[in-house]
Amino acid sequence: MLRSTILAASRNGRLERVVTRAPISRSVVRRFVGGADTAAAVQTTRALIGDGLTVTLDHLGEDTTDRAAADAAAGAYLELLGQLDSAGLTERLGPLTARAEVSVKLSAVGQSLGADGEKIATENARTICLEARRVGATVTLDMEDHTTTDSTLGILRELRGEFPETAAVLQAYLRRTEGDCLDLAYAGSRVRLCKGAYDEPASVAFTTRADVDRSYVRCMNALLAGDGYAMFATHDPTLIDIASARAEAHDTAMNGFEVQLLYGIRPDEQRRLAAAGHTVRVYVPYGAQWYGYLVRRLAERPANLAFFARALISKG
Ligand code: FDA
Repeated sequence: MLRSTILAASRNGRLERVVTRAPISRSVVRRFVGGADTAAAVQTTRALIGDGLTVTLDHLGEDTTDRAAADAAAGAYLELLGQLDSAGLTERLGPLTARAEVSVKLSAVGQSLGADGEKIATENARTICLEARRVGATVTLDMEDHTTTDSTLGILRELRGEFPETAAVLQAYLRRTEGDCLDLAYAGSRVRLCKGAYDEPASVAFTTRADVDRSYVRCMNALLAGDGYAMFATHDPTLIDIASARAEAHDTAMNGFEVQLLYGIRPDEQRRLAAAGHTVRVYVPYGAQWYGYLVRRLAERPANLAFFARALISKG
């Protein structure tokens, strides 16, 4: 109930205007957002890599409503990739992985623009993949709400024809996902598994935490039993422990999978896991449109609401 209310707030334009214009403490945004512009995001990336972590960057913005904004979002990724390259941060770690890569929401690059949406998003994503390849980086296609899953997986298939290193994201809360994991667990396929961040109906999604966790473990097993490269995106200490144990049971080497966490969440644990030999990738959102992203993080952990409210009324 509280989660649904907070998620509804993430789509409330009036509330967004009030919150983003409030004298919000910079600390609340800084904690979860890697910078307001490209230069700041590159600086954050350099610091994380210096700490032994790997990075995936997300230019904030989704549900683009016109072509110009979709092209501008793609342009922001090209600028980012160019600056990461100039900063020497796109070192390749293997055929499928790089030290810094980008995560792209297809809705930000045009997917929801009516009948031509898929075509526009595919063209923009292809341009980003081309530039990523030029600089040695890779691309992950973030997954959004369940109405876009088939379209996103279709675009992924098309892009993988030319850029096989492009990664998929699958959400364990969807009932279909174990099957999608089995389909995508082939050699050379990179897949991020997360729980899922949208407010989905019970007809398509597991709705209790225990059911989502059980699905996550089934999906984890499906990925590890295959020949692809699995990326376990979760802050859940139990699931991270299970992933390590299952990877060992499946004879997957430490560099044959990775753990992914969001910027600002359990930062000490991110460094502890990296020091223990795991490949740890930090998802770094950046840019001016931080509102929807921040509200989704609050919905996951309403305990953060008090922190957010304090920051909103402070002038720090
Ligand atoms: P959950 O929120 O259930 O938390 C489980 C446990 O983790 C908690 O009990 C606590 O122990 C610990 N924990 C969680 N938050 C914490 C905090 N703030 N501080 C301390 N401990 C905390 N979603 C999506 O729909 N599409 C996508 O493309 C992506 N991409 C993505 C990339 C990456 C790298 C991550 C980490 C996540 C995503 N997500 C996502 C979001 C994902 O679907 C999910 O909403 C969040 O990761 C929250 O789920 P958790 O697995 O962390 O567990």
